[in-house]
Amino acid sequence: MKEKLTFLGIETSCDETAAAVVREKNDGTGEILSNIVSSQVEEHKEFGGIVPELAARAHVEKIEFIVQQAIKKSNVDINNLDGIAATAGPGLIVSLIVGLNTGKAIAGSLGKPFVAVNHLEGHALSPTINKKIEFPYLLLLISGGHTQFLEVNGVNKYKRLGTTIDDALGEAFDKTARLLGLEFPGGPKVEEYAKKGNENFFTLPKPILNRGGCNLSFAGLKTAVLKISKKLKNEKEKYHLAASFQKTINEILYEKTKVAMSEFLKNKKNKKKTFVIAGGVASNLSIRNNLIELAKEKDFIPVFPPVNLCSDNAAMIAWAGIERFKINAIDNLEFPSKARWPLDSSAPFLKGPGLKI
Ligand code: KG4
Ligand code: ZN
Repeated sequence: MKEKLTFLGIETSCDETAAAVVREKNDGTGEILSNIVSSQVEEHKEFGGIVPELAARAHVEKIEFIVQQAIKKSNVDINNLDGIAATAGPGLIVSLIVGLNTGKAIAGSLGKPFVAVNHLEGHALSPTINKKIEFPYLLLLISGGHTQFLEVNGVNKYKRLGTTIDDALGEAFDKTARLLGLEFPGGPKVEEYAKKGNENFFTLPKPILNRGGCNLSFAGLKTAVLKISKKLKNEKEKYHLAASFQKTINEILYEKTKVAMSEFLKNKKNKKKTFVIAGGVASNLSIRNNLIELAKEKDFIPVFPPVNLCSDNAAMIAWAGIERFKINAIDNLEFPSKARWPLDSSAPFLKGPGLKI
């Protein structure tokens, strides 16, 4: 094996077409040689959310160019790659297969190792690309598709401590934005509106706040926002609703993260207290400050990966590919795409109507 591994990563699990080349450094972190992300925000804007067929078509149209750009920008000869990694799930099957098949085709034609990556493992390991972080660490992943607390014990070693039982947090932000008449993706716009409003103007519910361990729920909150949004009298009240929604989210995250931290510390091996927050919603400054405050209080070191590694990207997929290759987790070209693929296979599936927790 060569000393420093270089991988091409490909990501198409949702609405970002992405490719990147990452090289291992001597200190165990990674150097991002290229990281190309093409977002489909424009394609989906008028629909207020992601339309799977449109997403798949956009991936097909862009993938070849994006991969070529990533290789070109990295200045790496494609024959010198040590392997190809592609996201195989979880996500939209029609989107996943575009990147997965591209990755397999490149690996097959070059005779290089292929690694199928779980998108969530990409997020989970992303903070270790440019920072050396000792395992285990506590991870809160808050994105448009996922909301989970994970104990990250090492590559391929994850324990899910909690998850949303209905909507993902980014989804809750996007739905609130839509009800306020704001464009998709609405998270950043809700944050802007919230700055101008009174956060105590509306009282909103905090579902399962005092039960269900560190599992989360946002559906009841969404219904409450829907009801109020129908009665709003002016723009000012929209600001108030955005502010009240964000404040409620902060209160939920504060309480649930406290539970997750104590769950994490129940494992006596977990002495080093690092708390990583990743996913697109982690760019929200008010959420950041809220969680930094809590981390200080509970003596955890808060770590936020840079924004371009927090939201969906292929550098984290290339990196997970390198890390998996190092533990010999190489896949064959028959590896299927998976709509559902939990990182912790022992954790129960907590979704669906009538669920009691
Ligand atoms: O991680 P990400 O880029 O893609 C997924 O894997 O989903 O996350 C996108 C989500 C969207 O729902 C978006 O509205 C939300 O992250 N988001 C935000 C902010 N920036 C992005 N939510 C709240 N406040 C923000 N500043
Ligand atoms: Zn993601």
